[in-house]
Amino acid sequence: MALYSDIVMDHFRNPRNVGVIENADGVGEVGNAKCGDIMKIYLKIDGDTITDAKFETFGCGSAIASSSMATEMIKGQPVAQALQLTNKAVVEALDGLPAHKIHCSVLAEEAIKLALKDYYDRHGIAYDKQQFPSCENCGHCHTH
Ligand code: FES
Repeated sequence: MALYSDIVMDHFRNPRNVGVIENADGVGEVGNAKCGDIMKIYLKIDGDTITDAKFETFGCGSAIASSSMATEMIKGQPVAQALQLTNKAVVEALDGLPAHKIHCSVLAEEAIKLALKDYYDRHGIAYDKQQFPSCENCGHCHTH
């Protein structure tokens, strides 16, 4: 069996939503201390809906495929639903990742959560801090 699924290869070779959103409503940047890869997600949010999502990923192919798939999955979704996106769902949508590449999909989940937290913070929207447990003391996140 090939190491990477056809879907992973497709999203790696033709990533969707690469780029920057000027005047984004929320931006989240995370890095993995071990591999040194960095992922940045930009969100445009209108009302309660994510109308656009883009990413810049300086990292491995699995991180690029994960950010491509994850941004596709949250576009058009309500904010509350995007908050529920797990790295597991991203891996499933990619038709799997090798075990040693699962952490790459975690970056996508964390970057999206951080961008949503940024959106809440910027707009003064109250939220339950428990929704962002990995943001507490993890030291992964860079501020932009
Ligand atoms: Fe670091 Fe993939 S090896 S994100």
